[in-house]
Amino acid sequence: MAGEKILILGAKGMLGSDLFAVFEDGYEVTGWDREDLDITDRDSVLEKVRGFDIVINAAGYTAVDKAEKERDEAFKLNSDAVAYLSEASAILVHFSTDYIFDSEKEHAEDDAPDAEQSVYSASKLAGERNLQGTYYLIRTSWLYGRNGRNFVDTMLSLGNEVRVVNDQISKPTYTLDLARATRDLIEDKPDYGTYHLVNEGIMSWFDFAEKIFELSGKNVKVTPVPTSEFPRPARRPSYSALKNTKRPKMRSVEEALGEYLKNQDTKKQEPNKNQILKL
Ligand SMILES: NC(=O)c1ccc[n+]([C@@H]2O[C@H](COP(=O)([O-])OP(=O)(O)OC[C@H]3O[C@@H](n4cnc5c(N)ncnc54)[C@H](OP(=O)(O)O)[C@@H]3O)[C@@H](O)[C@H]2O)c1
Repeated sequence: MAGEKILILGAKGMLGSDLFAVFEDGYEVTGWDREDLDITDRDSVLEKVRGFDIVINAAGYTAVDKAEKERDEAFKLNSDAVAYLSEASAILVHFSTDYIFDSEKEHAEDDAPDAEQSVYSASKLAGERNLQGTYYLIRTSWLYGRNGRNFVDTMLSLGNEVRVVNDQISKPTYTLDLARATRDLIEDKPDYGTYHLVNEGIMSWFDFAEKIFELSGKNVKVTPVPTSEFPRPARRPSYSALKNTKRPKMRSVEEALGEYLKNQDTKKQEPNKNQILKL
């Protein structure tokens, strides 16, 4: 309900910054990042988080490859901290990942997770299992947004020929759309539990790269390659598409990407780089 006191954690992150923008209008919203509250510190969480009607946790350990060498840090942030937040919050909204699935079908909300192939995915799954009481667990996939390093910006910064993997499949999702769908979820107040919120369109990174160049009008030759050509410390799922069976479907990947690219153009034309886009 508008007017409620909402706390957004990870408010400077890619998703958190869009959540802040989306909730600013109509709610009493507070945005904190690591310097305001270290969510791995249980005492501070219990002391500072009480008093908010809803806590939205967009903070997390998201460096998938680095996590292979920083297991403790990844588990503290993605798992232990979720237990503290769950204990302290009246209602907790928490985000998890498609990377807990890996089998060739769309994964519905009640499907049993079947992949813990990396420290990141194992830590996120452990975090899900630490949720208790009144919470919304939102799983999503392959995020891109204006305030984070992401695949779209990387593609647009490369030259006229790129090689992109075509054997990892999921649904790329725009953080602004996810933030809007999160607000809708909170306002509709469905039963507590697990929800899958993703833009619609099952594709590989190669397919997504082709869409990016098509919609941005850039003439780039994209060559599909297997994951084995780009060895990374952490293994990624080959098929992790999420199926949203409980909420109104979000718009297509293509429409969402179109808006993201349009907003990027607007941002480039603005004289002051720090100016926040009016949404
Ligand atoms: N990115 C994706 O493709 C993707 C896909 C599926 C699910 N998700 C999930 O979506 C959520 C948001 O992801 P994102 O990509 O927006 O994350 P992000 O851009 O990496 O932002 C995470 C934020 O958490 C903050 N943070 C780190 N350690 C903290 C601590 N100890 N206490 C408080 N805040 C801390 C970070 O601050 P610093 O910058 O100071 O570290 C950062 O602002 C995460 O739960 C992630 O697992 C992401």
